[in-house]
Amino acid sequence: MKKVLRILGLLVAGLVFLGACAATFVQVRGIPSYDPPKVVMQPVKATPERIAHGQKIVNAMCADCHLNRGTGALTGKPLNEMPAAFGKVYSANITQDKQHGIGAWTDAELVGMLRTGIGRDGRQRVMPNFVHMSDEDVHSVLAYLHSNDAQVQPNPTPSREQEPSFLLKALTHTVMKPTPLPTGPVVAPPKTDAVAYGRYLVMGRYKCYDCHSKDFKTNNDLEPEKSAGYMGGGNELTGADGQPILSRNLTPDPETGIGDWTEGQFVQAVRYGQSPHGPLRMPMPKFTLMDEAEAKAIYAYLRTVPVLKNATPEDGAAAVATR
Ligand code: HEC
Ligand code: HEC
Repeated sequence: MKKVLRILGLLVAGLVFLGACAATFVQVRGIPSYDPPKVVMQPVKATPERIAHGQKIVNAMCADCHLNRGTGALTGKPLNEMPAAFGKVYSANITQDKQHGIGAWTDAELVGMLRTGIGRDGRQRVMPNFVHMSDEDVHSVLAYLHSNDAQVQPNPTPSREQEPSFLLKALTHTVMKPTPLPTGPVVAPPKTDAVAYGRYLVMGRYKCYDCHSKDFKTNNDLEPEKSAGYMGGGNELTGADGQPILSRNLTPDPETGIGDWTEGQFVQAVRYGQSPHGPLRMPMPKFTLMDEAEAKAIYAYLRTVPVLKNATPEDGAAAVATR
């Protein structure tokens, strides 16, 4: 018996030691670096269509994090809406400034970064990655970033260094790893196939699933539909004043989801932030430049996702209590 206890004791001591080693490794190594992604491509041709389309995507997908109200440009800012447990996270200057922005990045380096999350210097960025965004959409984003629009003109505001907590460092070593580059061309389905196009918008262009599934930590970036609680809401996000705000259930459940919504109500909520439950707050993005056909396609697709029953506060206290 004594011997068994001693062996057990040694085992526990060994495990504690290994755990301490792993923690020290994470603490010292910080946010990991990798070989910078190697993308082979021709420089993007900036057509007026691409610039306009890119502006629409950047407005919806990048500006909430990168637009600094003080400079009126994409010069970066502290991301106070990140959970405090992550430490302090600052978005970067992505204006055309050669030293402080992305003026010196090649198109291939930018595409590599957006696809994988790994920068040209190999350091992983604490930023969503755009794995399923079509090549055409990504190229449009670049065309806009290189355009004459006021928000992207060279601005010498330096980007700030991250102050990640131990938790955030640990997450980047585990569930928040970079994503691989796509192995072939990424093409969006035609607009005429509303359900397929809507699915693309939810997973690729606007990443609605990212916030609207159960938890960032259990999201599956490579196969979004395998994310826990896919589109069922309940992901705890942080609002403008630091208060917790739960994302909402967008599956077709009539009681806790949007099964009882008309297409018109849905379009109104997504494009103008006016839900039948009242005005929508940050961090639900303002999709003001989204066109009506896109909103309708998303509605058509959401009609087809598996129904989940998951009540959140706007469904009323009774629904939450019985969930
Ligand atoms: C949730 C917030 C968030 C969103 C959304 C976001 N970013 Fe970022 N981005 C960041 C943060 C934070 C950093 C800095 C991360 C770091 O240094 O680790 C960053 C860094 C970058 C960088 C690297 C710049 C540098 O000098 O290192 C580029 C390029 C970039 N973002 C482009 C974009 C584009 C384009 C979009 C939209 C398609 C976008 N980001 C959406 C938060 C965000
Ligand atoms: C950055 C996270 C985030 C992203 C991305 C996001 N949402 Fe939201 N969404 C939220 C949050 C948080 C709420 C709840 C807002 C509130 O409580 O005021 C919300 C609410 C909604 C509502 C209201 C639902 C209800 O029951 O009232 C709809 C509809 C909606 N989102 C649709 C979408 C669509 C469609 C997309 C993609 C095109 C999307 N959202 C992308 C965070 C997000």
